Amino acid sequence: MANLVTNCGFSPSPAVKAHCNSPSYGHNFIRLQNSKSSTSSLNLKSSSKRSNKLYVTCASTAVQGQTQTPLTGSQQASGHSSSKPKKVMVIGGDGYCGWATALHLSNKGYEVAIVDNLVRRLFDHQLGLDSLTPIASIQNRIRRWKSLTGKTIQLFIGDICDFDFLSEAFKSFEPDSAVHFGEQRSAPFSMIDRSRAVYTQNNNVIGTLNVLFAMKEFSEECHLVKLGTMGEYGTPNIDIEEGFLTITHNGRTDTLPYPKQASSFYHLSKVHDSHNIAFTCKAWGIRATDLNQGVVYGIRTDETAMHEELSNRLDYDGIFGTALNRFCVQAAVGHPLTVYGKGGQTRGYLDIRDTVQCVELAIANPAKPGEFRVFNQFTEQFSVNELAKLVTAAGAKLGLDVQTKSVPNPRVEAEEHYYNAKHSKLSELGLAPHLLSDSLLDSLLNFAVQYKDRVDMAQIMPSVSWKKMGAKPKTVSV
Ligand SMILES: NC(=O)c1ccc[n+]([C@@H]2O[C@H](COP(=O)([O-])OP(=O)(O)OC[C@H]3O[C@@H](n4cnc5c(N)ncnc54)[C@H](O)[C@@H]3O)[C@@H](O)[C@H]2O)c1
Repeated sequence: MANLVTNCGFSPSPAVKAHCNSPSYGHNFIRLQNSKSSTSSLNLKSSSKRSNKLYVTCASTAVQGQTQTPLTGSQQASGHSSSKPKKVMVIGGDGYCGWATALHLSNKGYEVAIVDNLVRRLFDHQLGLDSLTPIASIQNRIRRWKSLTGKTIQLFIGDICDFDFLSEAFKSFEPDSAVHFGEQRSAPFSMIDRSRAVYTQNNNVIGTLNVLFAMKEFSEECHLVKLGTMGEYGTPNIDIEEGFLTITHNGRTDTLPYPKQASSFYHLSKVHDSHNIAFTCKAWGIRATDLNQGVVYGIRTDETAMHEELSNRLDYDGIFGTALNRFCVQAAVGHPLTVYGKGGQTRGYLDIRDTVQCVELAIANPAKPGEFRVFNQFTEQFSVNELAKLVTAAGAKLGLDVQTKSVPNPRVEAEEHYYNAKHSKLSELGLAPHLLSDSLLDSLLNFAVQYKDRVDMAQIMPSVSWKKMGAKPKTVSV
């Protein structure tokens, strides 16, 4: 069995220190300066009165080389244009979806700031995991982006559960939109033990609450684009609508939030987020878009392909790896594709190139003040068995002998079920999807073959059981 976790309680951030003790990120507020003349030093500039913490900042250089100035949907509608680029805060911008999105938006002329406490990298260290692809530090990523494009991305290193840090970031950057990817996003991670379950819900729910409070206090006009998940809906035996369902009951009709049947502590954290966001839209007039995203696959976007230092992460392990990405890596190293149980589990999927496109569309067409919108963000549905067949066929074309193996399902979920989820709202805004094709599978498989020497075979099998979830933090020797 792969090693699971470290031997201590789990607490990567100051905000969860109440639960357990361990080193933390999040005290410092660092804005990276990218210009050649200044990369060597960070200037101490201010200290926060509110917290008596020292926040470290650097002046950033002006954004250069922009070819266009994005406008919000309301500006486009009114014909009003502003010479200032729109500012987007990408929370969780060092992660898989966030990094690709930050670069995409920067390339499109938005002024981008990344907010991240780098906890995803810490999870890897603690669990003995690694991305298939080598990834540069966030500082080097941003410097490389600047050197290639002339565009500056500001960097705020800290934990959004720390409201003082987040407040400083909002006051300093003054975002027009906040795209919130910054959560613990693995269902298996949230099911390892009590401390990870508590951490996940604390990190995700409190982090999102802090973002809502920061918007209310410092950026009333800011549009929240929050990453939810299709997993919030579960697998009901009726069609899944986009956020809301019109019901007639005892002769009366109402349109209500679509029922949520999440099936892990992670997915439940997203449900709680959605309720908090919907409430603050009503109560405070927050404008928000909840993007219920399907499973993301792929690695390259136009921007991350520009240089190896811009490369995105690709997770293949049993905790952070997701279905199609995992299957491609398994095929590349000659490991049987690990189908959980009967393999009829059907979900919505999308290419990472469409994640960045969907977020851009949501930003460019913002919700109105007080509006809580829900978009189902995926482009196609597949069962696990269908994915295994597609990868087997694509592997054969590359000369790979791909086998499939049914393994005991570590999750508690229906393995054969009805699934039909609506996803028209982003298409109506102009989404031009990259559907799963032979060429994408070829390139993903070739990518996996290129890096196959980095694969740790011990990390491939699922190692976290929903039913046998440990109440105490585990110590597992390698
Ligand atoms: N990857 C998918 O297939 C997928 C599918 C559906 C939904 N989503 C959602 O999209 C979002 C991004 O997913 P991802 O795959 O990029 O995850 P990821 O783990 O690669 O990235 C998340 C980033 O957020 C940061 N972060 C976490 N907690 C933070 C905190 N308290 N303060 C500051 N930064 C914090 C992490 O360090 C990391 O860089 C998540 O909310 C996830 O639930 C992802």
